Amino acid sequence: MNPTNLANTAVFQKLRKHAEKAGKWSLKELFRNDPGRFPAMTLTAGGLFLDFSKNFLTKETLLLLLELAKECDLEKIRDRMFEGDKINTTEHRAVLHTALRAPRYEKVLVDGKNVIPDIQAVLDQMRRFSEKIHSGEWKGFTGKPITDIVNIGIGGSDVGPRMVCQAMRSFHIKELNVHFVANVDGHDLDMVLNRVRPETTLFIIASKTFTTLETMLNAHSARSWFLNHGTIRDIQKHFIAISTNREAVEKFGIHHDNLFPFWDWVGGRYSVWSAIGLPVVLAIGYNHFTEFLAGAHAMDVHFRYAPLASNMPVLLGLTGIWNRNFLGCTSVSVAPYLQDLVSFPRYLQQLEMESNGKQVQKNGEPVTYGSCPVIWGNVGTNGQHAYFQLLHQGTEIIPVDFIVALSPHHTLAKHHSALLANCFAQSEALMKGKTADQVRADLEASGMSPQEIETQIPQRTFPGNRPSNTILMNVLRPETLGALMALYEHKTFVQGVIWNINSFDQWGVELGKVLAQTIQKELENNISEEHDSSTSGLIALAKASRK
Ligand code: F6P
Repeated sequence: MNPTNLANTAVFQKLRKHAEKAGKWSLKELFRNDPGRFPAMTLTAGGLFLDFSKNFLTKETLLLLLELAKECDLEKIRDRMFEGDKINTTEHRAVLHTALRAPRYEKVLVDGKNVIPDIQAVLDQMRRFSEKIHSGEWKGFTGKPITDIVNIGIGGSDVGPRMVCQAMRSFHIKELNVHFVANVDGHDLDMVLNRVRPETTLFIIASKTFTTLETMLNAHSARSWFLNHGTIRDIQKHFIAISTNREAVEKFGIHHDNLFPFWDWVGGRYSVWSAIGLPVVLAIGYNHFTEFLAGAHAMDVHFRYAPLASNMPVLLGLTGIWNRNFLGCTSVSVAPYLQDLVSFPRYLQQLEMESNGKQVQKNGEPVTYGSCPVIWGNVGTNGQHAYFQLLHQGTEIIPVDFIVALSPHHTLAKHHSALLANCFAQSEALMKGKTADQVRADLEASGMSPQEIETQIPQRTFPGNRPSNTILMNVLRPETLGALMALYEHKTFVQGVIWNINSFDQWGVELGKVLAQTIQKELENNISEEHDSSTSGLIALAKASRK
């Protein structure tokens, strides 16, 4: 059973004691003393290679972390997820994004019903629909084929498909432009509407609940814009929906034939594998989408069956637990050295922080140890010229996940060796640092005066000892991206299990939504509710500016 208070368990205490020793280690020395460190702390799965050797870990640390995983029943809870048990206990739902990428012949039961045939039926629907769009058989109200897709959604109904479409730029079907609108800020929709023509545009209204304020407002505004050009009957040619809420979709005026359903056991941030992935299918074609699913499935199989000690998501998750709970790191920076993964850190922010940004355990007890760290980052090498200064010499230790492909999609060979060199150099520099003696030797060689050298040394010294992971892939393709995303989904799962958190609800976003409704009424009507003086003052200023 998962212990009621993780921090009181014997293994947690052992890890704490062990961390006191680790505080005195030097990463450089760990490498010097163990020539087998790299092979022992690297592994391959799903076409990805993980090097976690540049972390403050020894074999003993790993054994203790694996003991912690056992103590928390990781294997049992993992199996329950794959088997369709209702592990999302606050919403009484199964958690089955893994079923969305399972092969046709698999059987996964929810309430005694095999969900695989329904999943495959929707995939077939997506294939047929995308073929009609790509071939030009699907026509807009003036008889022209569709040239622009506008996905209207937010959170999981936006971030995943948007990131994947961007990441798969090299696989795009050129004739089709795919746009994303998420923000309730009207500038977002306005910008896209200014670029597209109603007769050749297809709107996808993507919302699991079909009640999300931002999405519904954007959807209604898009519909009004469309109706300035087409008729109510033409809506069927230009609006489709992806949702679990059939009734609300039909009320909006979208025909049930144009609804791509999914199910309550697909969490928003885990939904790109479902019909929510339709923009991806339209952007890269159905076959590439199935490769994307297959890549994720390969990682699922590895996560489900590989022993914990050689299980990539488990080791990535446990390394994060070690950094967070025993070495005190409060944030993690993600640095894809891949321009096409520019939105990957943003995707991970929702995945990890909405899943594990919790302060209450599954049993209702408070969490008395750190849960999800802040996830942030940007593509390399851009980040190097912005915040890497803080990673190297700041007062916080921030572990970094470097992600890079060995081969690019372009032919600018020199660019790629520069990119790889920078990626590898950053992890080396973070680990090794630069000692005062090295700085002195360099400055002496440059001819600087001894007095100036002494004032410069503290500024130019790098402490080093800053941990990182490096994830390599041969080339960023649909299947490697699928595997990478599944790797992080399962890492998030592993950490949620250790923290005894329900990673699949998100009650924390509700309060702001409710308060926004009250304030919107105040802004639009002549009414005032009771607030603190700051909120009331801000509302008054906004009202005054509208007069
Ligand atoms: O931000 C809360 C949230 O519920 C996310 O989890 C979800 O992905 C997003 O809103 C959008 O929800 P929906 O798909 O129902 O519009």
